[in-house]
Formats: sequence, C-alpha cells, structure tokens
Amino acid sequence: GDRPERSGGRPPRRDGAGALGRSLPRSRRLTPPTRSTSRRSRPADCCYTSAVPRTRTLPPTDEGVRDAAAILARGGLLGLPTETVYGLAAHAFDPEAVLSVFRAKERPAFDPLIVHLAGPSLDAAIDAGVIDGARLSSEARANVERLLPLWPGPLTLVLPRGARVPELATSGLDTVAVRVPAHPLARAVIHALGAPVVAPSANRFGRISPTEAAHVIEELDGRLDAVLDGGPCALGVESTIVGLEDDGTPRLLRPGACPIERIEAALGRALQPPRRTAAPHAPGMLASHYAPRKRLLLVDPASSIAVMPLEGRAAFLVFDPTATSTLEATFGAPVAVEALGVDVDAAARGLFGALRRLDASRADFLVATTPPARVGLGVAIADRLARASAER
Ligand code: TXA
Ligand code: MG
Repeated sequence: GDRPERSGGRPPRRDGAGALGRSLPRSRRLTPPTRSTSRRSRPADCCYTSAVPRTRTLPPTDEGVRDAAAILARGGLLGLPTETVYGLAAHAFDPEAVLSVFRAKERPAFDPLIVHLAGPSLDAAIDAGVIDGARLSSEARANVERLLPLWPGPLTLVLPRGARVPELATSGLDTVAVRVPAHPLARAVIHALGAPVVAPSANRFGRISPTEAAHVIEELDGRLDAVLDGGPCALGVESTIVGLEDDGTPRLLRPGACPIERIEAALGRALQPPRRTAAPHAPGMLASHYAPRKRLLLVDPASSIAVMPLEGRAAFLVFDPTATSTLEATFGAPVAVEALGVDVDAAARGLFGALRRLDASRADFLVATTPPARVGLGVAIADRLARASAER
C-alpha cells in the first residue's frame, strides 16, 4: 500500500512525553492555595469541583488583565477567555511554561498547541519569529492574505514554524498553528504581555472544552494560577483549523466556529481534505475527543432508531425539543433533557455546557441527536458529537 507521510518530515519529540504520563508534579511555579484552610475544607476526592477553589478567579477589569499578564510573564498558567472556548494560556516563547501546559492538561506531547497573536499582521508574526517567512510559499502567502479579513476571529492557520516557537509547542513539527482571537480580554492580555501565548482548550486531555470560567476550575483547579473571568464564550466551539503547508493548498484540518462557507468565499476556492498522515495530523481529530465521562450514543431521530439502549437510565441532548418523545420510545423516561434549539449558532454556544450538565446528572448514559443542519456551525457540532460518542 502507499506509505503515509508525516507533514513535518520529523518525528514528534518524545522527551516531553515521559513526564506527561505520570501524575502531575507540583510545579514550583503554581501559586500555593491563597487560603490556608482551603485544602482542609475540600471534601475528600470530590468528583468535580472542590468546595473552595484553589485557583484564583480574576475579574474582567484592567486590574484583572494586568494580573493575568503578570502571571504569564513569570511563566505561570492562566485560564484565558476567547470567543470560542477558554484556553489554558502560557507565554509562547517560554519552553518551561509550554511544558507545564502539557502537564496540567495531561496532554500527550504529540498534540501541538495553537499560538495566539495580538494582531492580524503576517509580517509582525514573521518578525516576531512565530512564522518562518522564508519557508512561506507565494501561494501560501496569497491565501493567508485572502484570509486575513477573517482575523481577529475563530480561524486558525497552520504555517511554517518560526525560530522562536519552542519545538514542544508544535510537537516537533516544522509547522505552527496561529490565530488572532477576537475576545477583547484575550487581546488585552496578549497585548499587555507583549508576546504571543499558546492556549489549548482549558480542559483535561480528551474532555469537554470549557465555555465558562467555572468549567475551567472544574477541569483544572489547582493546576493553573488563575482564570480570567470573561463570562460565557460567544461562539462555544473551537476555532476552524486550515492548513496552508508546503505548496499553500488550503486544507480543512478541523471544522470549527468559523463557517467553512465563509472561508471558501474568502479564498475563492474549495477547502481540500487533509493529506493522509501516519500520526494524527491534527489530534483534535483523534476519534475520541471532547468526551463526557459517561457513554454517549448519537442517534438520528429522523431515521428509525437502531441503537441499543444501554443499561440504566438515559439523559437526552436534543436540538428540536420534539425529538424528546421519539427518544423516550426507545430509551425510556430521561433523567434530564437539554434542548439546544434548531438555530446552529445558538446550539453551538450551548453545546459543551449542556454536555457538561448531562455528564454531571444522575443518568447512566447520554443520548444525543444528530444536529439539524450540516451548514455553518452545524458542521462543527456534528464533528464534536461524533468524537464525543466515539468508542474509547
Ligand atoms: O478555538 C480554539 O482554537 C481554542 C481556543 C483556546 O483558542 N484552542 C484550541 O486548542 O482548540 P486545542 O489545543 O484544543 O487544539 C489544538 C489543535 C491540535 O489538537 C491540533 O489538532 C491542531 O490544533 N494543531 C496545532 N498545531 C498544529 C500543526 N502544526 N499542524 C496541524 N495541526 C495543528
Ligand atoms: Mg482541545
């Protein structure tokens, strides 16, 4: 058969990986609990949230932004609100801070991070050493320029890696994923830091992405210094990732919050599928990802339901509320129902929060219906639900 190729040409580095499998070492950099009683007042082995969070919440004020930037400047970890989901941010040029992102998330070293820039200037990113201008083909440059009007926004581009980005941040690949977030707090923090930040979604690896500051605490309390509270995220699913590697052909690596239609209109051409690679090219594309703890069954309410119910009681995630009765016929009375509505933008905004609530419900398993439309953000919703329901 044909030999799959790896996009970067180099094997991913393994030196970070060994440390990641073990339990989290108490980083010297993490801020100790602010209240001396906080440890004692925690219920033992609480499943999700400790009663008294050990991670500080910063207000969405000038002072909060200043404190947030100071944490990043000294190599700390920050929960950063963006328009898509909350990120776990670290100084992008500080290799130790980047390593601590992988540790806090228990993220495998082969899963590269997105570098977040303050402004939509390709030349500034090249000058800053984020993107390697010398390896940027003229076709890639032309396509970036066509896409620049979509920045700031939920679009991530994969381009040749510049010299200042630590290898661990890109998992040893010679490409780097970059985006310019639109959230005013994210931009203010990056601006105040005076350097780009890496920011994967602020959840433990493979789990549901956080769309509120409280979700970040649920996922990572005690593993980051602070979360800057920007309220609920406006879009609710992660950025769309487009690869512009080698010859500059635009390829869709991950559907997301920037509609494919909008990207194709800006490019004046269709996005191509990713090339076949040996390693997961974009590990957000791993089959099982964005997953609740409970088993999730994905069913199409329009076709007859051929899914076997699991043992115990179900909770439902539906778009059209009338689908509830259809599901009840197969799965029985639900413990809880979350209805996202048929508007794909609103459904995307509510998706991860609803999954999180159902996961915390008393249900034994979850049932979700397929999204109403495969247009706009419906593509990203379908992708996330498919991965959340994938066999683990
Ligand atoms: O909306 C978002 O993109 C959020 C917010 C916080 O900005 N961030 C986010 O990051 O979703 P994360 O770590 O959950 O997803 C990063 C994904 C990787 O899993 C991989 O799929 C892709 O970006 N990626 C990063 N660098 C890449 C590269 N050099 N080549 C291909 N894919 C890359
Ligand atoms: Mg993620």
